[in-house]
Amino acid sequence: MPSFANPFAGNVDRKMSNAELMQALRLDIAGELEAIYLYESHYLATDDPAAKKVLADIRDEEKAHMGELITLMRYLDPKETELFLDGEGEVNEMLEDLRIDATPKPASGPTVGDLSE
Ligand SMILES: [Fe+2]
Repeated sequence: MPSFANPFAGNVDRKMSNAELMQALRLDIAGELEAIYLYESHYLATDDPAAKKVLADIRDEEKAHMGELITLMRYLDPKETELFLDGEGEVNEMLEDLRIDATPKPASGPTVGDLSE
């Protein structure tokens, strides 16, 4: 939820170390997740087609932001990347055990281009 009561709450009064920046990025990712959660909740709570289309588009943009932040974290801290990949490998092993194809599929939902139609 937004907390705008203090307009200076998000300011950082100095340059951050990489470790501090990684912590800040974790907070930024949490913000993206919260935004995705809220847009999805509002998407599910309406039957208005225009509202659904706009909310889905914004929700998906937030998902892209999350991907950008995770990619930045992987660039800033290769050790963190190893851990991300460890987790990915563990899930892929479980999916293989279940004989589930884990190959990423192209998105089938609405895109930014859909809004111009
Ligand atoms: Fe965002």
